[in-house]
Amino acid sequence: MKQENINTECHQIWENLGSWWDASVEDGDYFHLAFVFPAIENLLDLQGSEIVLDAGCGNGALARRIAKKGSKVFGVDFSSTLIKQARKRSSDVNYQEMDLTNEVQLSQLAQTQSFDRIVCSMVLHDMSNVHPLFESLRLLMKPRGSFIFSIPHPCFNSPSVLFKPTGCITLKDYIHLKTSKMRSKPGQPIEQLVFHRPIREYFNILLTQGMVMTGFEEPCVDPKLLPENSLWGQRSGISPALISRWIFPES
Ligand SMILES: C[S@@+](CC[C@H](N)C(=O)[O-])C[C@H]1O[C@@H](n2cnc3c(N)ncnc32)[C@H](O)[C@@H]1O
Repeated sequence: MKQENINTECHQIWENLGSWWDASVEDGDYFHLAFVFPAIENLLDLQGSEIVLDAGCGNGALARRIAKKGSKVFGVDFSSTLIKQARKRSSDVNYQEMDLTNEVQLSQLAQTQSFDRIVCSMVLHDMSNVHPLFESLRLLMKPRGSFIFSIPHPCFNSPSVLFKPTGCITLKDYIHLKTSKMRSKPGQPIEQLVFHRPIREYFNILLTQGMVMTGFEEPCVDPKLLPENSLWGQRSGISPALISRWIFPES
């Protein structure tokens, strides 16, 4: 399938899934609250007056948390349904509909605003193409800015990973890019498109931009602190997410 067609299909899925996703996530589900937000907030290292972009903000759960700490926050997402839900939930964040695979829209954003922090949480694996966003970071970021992203861990949390009842995992073909359809949350009414990429695929594009990594987290949480019977509560010692921070060293 052509790149534009895949992106159009992704967009349609997130328009259709938006209301259900918002109701399911609210201010963060257990996965956000236990694994993702603490690691992201640690790497964001906010002092309070930064201008922050939440790229792929969904219903704004993370954007609202950051805004509460005093930063000026912009949230962008290509799902008009999710942007509508995000606006209903709070007026503290400046929301805008935007496609992060579109170079023109990214450069228009960079012409109007630059950012001390760009955070992209659990979005890149849902994007058909990460090049335009990664290649726009230099334009979008202020000097001494940083880019923080979280993704489902490509080694342990991808459609190619199968968990055995013994607690062992089998992984089929880690190294190749693969597009699949899956439901990532229990009860999810429709499948989303996900794009498995090995870690080097993300890191090499950022390294090619001249960026360096200054923070890396693979969160693991004591299962006793997770809801009973939750998927990741039964997978103790395996990190379901990878979070990293990148900067332009000369800036
Ligand atoms: C798994 S949700 C995560 C949302 C939010 N960051 C969170 O953690 O709850 C993925 C989000 O990425 C957005 N998204 C996917 N592809 C996108 C694109 N090309 N441009 C902008 N947003 C995109 C979807 O609309 C959806 O809100």
